[in-house]
Order: sequence, then structure tokens, then C-alpha cells
Amino acid sequence: MARLNENYLNVKESYLFVEIANRVSKFEKENPDKPVIRLGIGDVTRPLPPIVVKAMEEASADQGRADTFHGYGPEQGYLFLREAVQNYYKSFGASIGTDEIFISDGAKSDTGNITDLFAQDNIVLVPDPVYPVYVDTNTMDGRKLIYMSGNAENDFLPMPDPSVHADIIYLCSPNNPTGAVYSKEQLKEWVDYALANNAIILFDSAYESFISDPSLPRSIFVVEGARKCAIEFCSLSKTAGFTGTRCGYTVVPKELVFPAADGTEMSVNKMWLRRQCTKFNGASYIVQKGAEAVFTPEGLAACHENTEYYQENARIIAKTLDRYGIRYFGGTHSPYIWMECPGHMASWDFFDLLLNEVQVVGTPGEGFGENGKGYFRLTSFNTHENTQAAMDRLASLMEKHFK
Ligand code: MLT
Repeated sequence: MARLNENYLNVKESYLFVEIANRVSKFEKENPDKPVIRLGIGDVTRPLPPIVVKAMEEASADQGRADTFHGYGPEQGYLFLREAVQNYYKSFGASIGTDEIFISDGAKSDTGNITDLFAQDNIVLVPDPVYPVYVDTNTMDGRKLIYMSGNAENDFLPMPDPSVHADIIYLCSPNNPTGAVYSKEQLKEWVDYALANNAIILFDSAYESFISDPSLPRSIFVVEGARKCAIEFCSLSKTAGFTGTRCGYTVVPKELVFPAADGTEMSVNKMWLRRQCTKFNGASYIVQKGAEAVFTPEGLAACHENTEYYQENARIIAKTLDRYGIRYFGGTHSPYIWMECPGHMASWDFFDLLLNEVQVVGTPGEGFGENGKGYFRLTSFNTHENTQAAMDRLASLMEKHFK
């Protein structure tokens, strides 16, 4: 008899955003006359910049001609794209080698797949609230998780506790779901903690392009010592609107070397390359050509314009929350606004109220962990028109129930 991985019994039956999508589609089926506005999953709405589309059209044409056709590409990604990523990192002061960059189909896959490299008995430290992928993927492997509390008192930026030992630490900055951003000094404390514990930090920088204050770190690799203890995951999903196109990159420094039980030195970089060569055939050539165009001056300018568009939406949301005295976090260097549920409502109750009464979808904070109870996440990724309409609807709900 085949024996299944029973660790799956320990994860919720459906992934958070699938659960939300199911509830929304049930509502839509039952209420076809009530149009819903989505500020739930962090999915972009701006189309790809023209230069990116053109690059992918040309790459498609390449695939139709014998002399420019590309079959299997390098598992680590084409050098043209790794060089573009390397230069991008240089622009905010981080120096990384092209052989430390691994192109993939996105940060979600890589943050999950990286767990292949780690023994089961590592102690994994995650913030609470937390992006559910970090928790679910480790639970599927049967790894023990411990939590650090993000809360209003620490501005949802938990700091290391020297009395607690961890082997693997997940950090996400700007944070999903809270929008909080670590300063360089705070990240240095995490790097020092990781070095003291011989731990590895798995740093998710998927939202780095929303940072508008140049003093805030866009990569953990601007912090001294990080090359000895950190892996960074980034994605073009939010930077360049690639949620449907799919491309990301992971940086694994060569300094990450840990001894095996018999003393053999194991290089994390070499292991990740080995893992990718075995289990992954690389992102598609066409997508990688589109991604390369993102990093041109024209591509970056167009992406920046889109980010500013979303930041305006965050301001629209913040204005309404301010009007009703609702406390919130994030929204400045992040597409996420992390608000307190009005009237001390439970977050799923607020989700239902908002959906049923005014047809606005957000994400219940509880879906991100215990500390998300009583909180609600809104995204700024919709259009100006829909964001304003959603806020008008929220205002009418506030007038009706919370005055
Ligand atoms: C989110 O809404 O938290 C994100 O879109 C999830 C993701 O990027 O996978």
C-alpha cells in the first residue's frame, strides 16, 4: 500500500487564498446582480509595460525560426537575465555574483522548494502574522515551527530574542501581510542573531520595489554579514506585473557553507544548483526575455510608474480609514494596508460583513496567524476607480454599523 505524507493532515484543508476565492465565487453565483470589488489577494491589475510585451513578442518570433530557436535553457536561468538582475542589485548597493542568482517562475515556488535543502529537525522561526506559504511548506515536511510575535506594540516588526534558538528564520520586508519594513539597523540585528546561531535567514524581498525611502534596505545583502547567513527571494510579480507571466529570482551566496555530520563541507549554493538541475528545467525563454526588458531603463521607469499608481490607491484607502479613525499599518512602502477590524470584530466576521453588505473583498488577518485576529488586509493593486468605489462602500458600511 502506498503510504502518504501524513504531515498534510496538519495543514488546513485549503490554502488561504483558495478559501477566499471559493467564498467569493459562491457569493457571486448566488448574487449575480451584485458586482464585487477585490482588494483581497495581492494580484496586480496594470498591464505589462510595452517594452516587456515587445521583448516577449520578439522572443516568440525567435522560437518560430530554426536559427533563433531555443530548446532547454540553463536550469539556473539565462546569463543575460542574471546579469540584468546583478546590475539591478548594484543599483541599490548590493554586490552579488551571477553564479549566485537563480531564475525561477516566482518567489512563492522558491520559498517552498528551498525546504528541500534542509533536514527535518531544524527549528524554523517565523513571524506571526506570516505569509502562509512559509508555514504550510514546512508543515508539509514535518518541521517544527516556532513563532515570534508581530503586534501593534512592535509595529509588526519582531526582533530577535537571544534566549530563543532557531536554525532557519523567515523574514519578509516589506512585510506581507502587514506592510511593515525593517530598517538596515534592525536587519543587522537579525544578521547578527543568525550568525550567532549558525542559522540561515530566508529573506523574502518580493515587495522591495514599493520602498520609496532610499535609507530603507531593498535587499538583505546591503547588510554586513548577510552573505554568510542569508538567502534572498524576489519576484517580478509585484515589481513588474508578472503575477500571471511568472518570473522570480533567488540569490544564494557562495559563503553559505555548513558542515555535514561527518564534517564534509556542504555548500548551499551548490545544493540549490543541484536541486534545480534535477527538479526544474528553468523559466521559459520567452518570459526571461520579457524579464530582461524589465531591467532596462525604459522597463524600470514603466514599472515605477505602475508602482506609483498603486501607491496612490494606498493613499485613497488610508484617507477613508483616517476619516473613520481606523488604525492601520503599512501602505507607504508596501501595497498592503493592515487595518484593525472596526468594532473589534473578528476578521472572518468582518470579511463576511464586507462581502455580503457592500461586496468588497479583503483578506482576514486570522488567515495569516493568531496575531492577525482582529485585523484585515487590503491591497492597493486594483484600479483607482475600483479602489475609490470600494472605499465609498466601506464608508457606507461604517456609517450604518459603526457610528
Ligand atoms: C498575497 O496576496 O499574499 C500574495 O499575492 C500571495 C503571493 O504573492 O503568492
